[in-house]
Amino acid sequence: MYGTLLQVDFQVSIFLFLVWLATTVATRLLTTRSTQRRMRRWARISLVLAAVGLLLTAARWVFTAVLASSFGWQIIADRKLLTVVLATVPAIVVALFTVPRLLRMARTAAPDSAPSAEARAAATSLWTLVPVRVALVGTALGLFEVFLPPARLGPVFLLTVSVLLVLAVTLLWWAHRRRAAGVPRAPRGRRIAVRAAVTAVVLAAGAAVFVTSMRASAFPDTYNMMQGVTEFGGGSTFPQTHEGGISVETLTGPRDRQPDRSFTLTAQAAKVPLTSGATVEAWTFNGQVPGPELRVREGELVEIKLVNNIPSVPVTIHWHGVDVPNAEDGVPGMTQNAVRTGQTHTYRFVADEVGTRWYHSHQLASEQVGRGLFGALVIEPRTVQRPVDEDIAVPFHIWDASSGARRAFGAADALERRQMEAGRRVRLRLINTSNKPATFTLTGTPYRVTALDGTDVNGPTEVNGYQLPLSAAGRYDLEFVMPSRPVRLAELGDVSHGLLLQPDGAGDVAPDTEGPVFDPTAYGSASDTPFNASSSFDRTFNLVLDDWLGFYNGKFALRQTVNGRVFPNAPVHMVREGDLVKMRFVNRGTENHPMHLHGHHMLVLSRNGQPVTGSPMVMDTLNVAPGEAWEVGFRADNPGLWMDHCHDFVHTQLGMVLHLAYEGVSTPYMLGEHAHNHPE
Ligand code: C2O
Ligand code: CU
Repeated sequence: MYGTLLQVDFQVSIFLFLVWLATTVATRLLTTRSTQRRMRRWARISLVLAAVGLLLTAARWVFTAVLASSFGWQIIADRKLLTVVLATVPAIVVALFTVPRLLRMARTAAPDSAPSAEARAAATSLWTLVPVRVALVGTALGLFEVFLPPARLGPVFLLTVSVLLVLAVTLLWWAHRRRAAGVPRAPRGRRIAVRAAVTAVVLAAGAAVFVTSMRASAFPDTYNMMQGVTEFGGGSTFPQTHEGGISVETLTGPRDRQPDRSFTLTAQAAKVPLTSGATVEAWTFNGQVPGPELRVREGELVEIKLVNNIPSVPVTIHWHGVDVPNAEDGVPGMTQNAVRTGQTHTYRFVADEVGTRWYHSHQLASEQVGRGLFGALVIEPRTVQRPVDEDIAVPFHIWDASSGARRAFGAADALERRQMEAGRRVRLRLINTSNKPATFTLTGTPYRVTALDGTDVNGPTEVNGYQLPLSAAGRYDLEFVMPSRPVRLAELGDVSHGLLLQPDGAGDVAPDTEGPVFDPTAYGSASDTPFNASSSFDRTFNLVLDDWLGFYNGKFALRQTVNGRVFPNAPVHMVREGDLVKMRFVNRGTENHPMHLHGHHMLVLSRNGQPVTGSPMVMDTLNVAPGEAWEVGFRADNPGLWMDHCHDFVHTQLGMVLHLAYEGVSTPYMLGEHAHNHPE
């Protein structure tokens, strides 16, 4: 619905532009007709075109009003409103001044004589010709909406636009006056020379702007992660700490005792086969994709030694969904230096967040996670509430394989069959390790969705045949008792791969793809939370997500913006330890943004203004779909510098990266080519 409205509005803009173009031509022809009758005909044509233009302008208002009323004011604030206003102001002048003149001309008697002096005067009047051309200029901006900076219509920008518009009007008016006054035309040769010169100047100026903005968009060789614009969310302000204070280096996990569990993950390149036989030029942990499944118990001190053996590719590991101490977070250039080839790095943290988590490299994640530097991390509870007989982690991934893009569970891009005796209690831990939302179905048995992003759902009811949409980086735990018929887990992007559980080693069931869509905001039962939507928050941060065409790091791209800005200039959210923080995400762009905050869990307060009616939703990643608005809250209880970004790593590379910074914390690490640190 949201996407359709945006699209229709854009198509109307194009059409509107064409209509004003046609009206401009028609009114121009009007001035040169040789008889009264012909003049009348062109007046009528102009009139019809102008009427269509006015109707379409009104239609844009309708779309804009519908967008604002169904999706909120922020959706149309600034640039959409600007383009609609710029299309409307000249349209009003056309309606008030041009249309009455055209009407008069369209009504005159029509002898085949040459047009009278008054008729000519009316046709060549400033009020007949110029407003239509101004409308043409005004609507042209609507076509360039995606080039305008989203969410940043400051005084400078508004002034620039107004000056340009006034300049356009003045030029048109001046040209008209000259023509009307019959200023004799310059000799042909000179006219051509002047035009050529003007064109050359315009082209050169355009090229200069092009090249300088492309160059200016390039990242510096080294820069600091914290250089963005600070925001305090309406709470108390304090100076940003650039040096000194508490260094992230000191915010480590326990280093003074023996770990309870130790793992070594060795990053290495390998050509890995998928089950279909297609191969992946993979980057692996310990030679396998996905990396080894790490299972630990709640409260254990876990130590992971990362060894990097990939030639000339620095890597890190981030523990997704685990609120580790800051220095263990694996963000290159902010919490550590990326681990260069031949080097090692040791992570240590106490596994406190029970549930389905995962780990992945955070260096150039789009490529590194895509190629296989990820794995499942399961933290089992100290006391098991719901014992199962089979506990299976199922990471969904899209591989760039020798046979093209392959959708797979782990390395299984073809249907995987497993014998599973009837009566066994099964838990599937679905992890979406791809960049895009994916939808799953479990056919052949009723089941419960027992955890969202690893956190237990309160009072999960039994469901059947649902479609389960899962955010990029999100997780669902599904639990059921194996029936005496087959059960099949499918992913709707390609139902031919999947996991088929067979009680007696045979049989199949067709994936149900038609069921109702699972809504996590209305699943399970409500329960007490440490705070809720009516708590008083110390800070509230608004994040308007949008896209903006232009240059980014030297390339032409559809930049993914937060409040009109892109990394490394995106907002830095400043907090104090202990603050209760609210974040509002509004997506007025055209793509999904799975927003992930490091180091904290977000309690969902509302979606599109509606409170959560089911179990409390405690998430580390929240898919904000186009047109959606979500409110979340969290307690700032984990000091450090934390990345907050879109987990579609393609968008991460297009700028959708911001930070949460605690008062007094600074980082000694740097970003950029020289530092070899690329957290995006
Ligand atoms: Cu799973 Cu910052 O990432
Ligand atoms: Cu995104």
